Amino acid sequence: MKEKVKIAVFASGSGSNFAALENACREGELNAEIALVMTDKPAAFVVERAKQAAVRVVAVEPKAFPTKKAFEKTVIDILRQAEVEWIVLAGYMRLIGPDLLAAFPSRIVNIHPSLLPSFPGKDAIGQAIAHGVKVTGVTVHLVDEGMDTGPILAQEAVRVVDGNTEMTAQSIHAIEHVIYKETLQKLFVANAIN
Ligand code: GAR
Repeated sequence: MKEKVKIAVFASGSGSNFAALENACREGELNAEIALVMTDKPAAFVVERAKQAAVRVVAVEPKAFPTKKAFEKTVIDILRQAEVEWIVLAGYMRLIGPDLLAAFPSRIVNIHPSLLPSFPGKDAIGQAIAHGVKVTGVTVHLVDEGMDTGPILAQEAVRVVDGNTEMTAQSIHAIEHVIYKETLQKLFVANAIN
């Protein structure tokens, strides 16, 4: 695979997964170029991280639009102009709507901090702790119209640390930062061949 795959990383939060992916691109572990970071939260820490890494940031807030359709049309136009091929969700806490899905069919990937289909939605780690499970994990999957549904590409189990949310989150993030770049690289290679 010669050409670098152009990706947009969508994020709403701290952006540690963005940082791991950006590092993997620079180190040549992920044959991709992050064309831009798309955020729905202009004050999110991911914006600082992207600026530090000299990656373009685009903030588009849904509340600035009358409908989800209008919001997604703007997002799609920006992605098309930047010639983005894949959307990589990295802590993007918003459901992808039908227009964006149709514009990038089977080309939107998500990472989620649980062994799906357990604990979808917000605060998956808190849900796992509250449920008292002893093992949770990380899932990478293709995005469909559901909330954290869609075909599973990779999963890894993570032991819950004594009901401790903070320590369990640390273990989960450490796994996420490895599994995401590896899974994306395999996906991009497979799609370049097919
Ligand atoms: C990650 O743990 C990711 O799996 C989760 O948000 C966190 C973002 O961390 N995503 C979801 O819960 C999606 N439903 P980060 O901002 O440090 O990358």
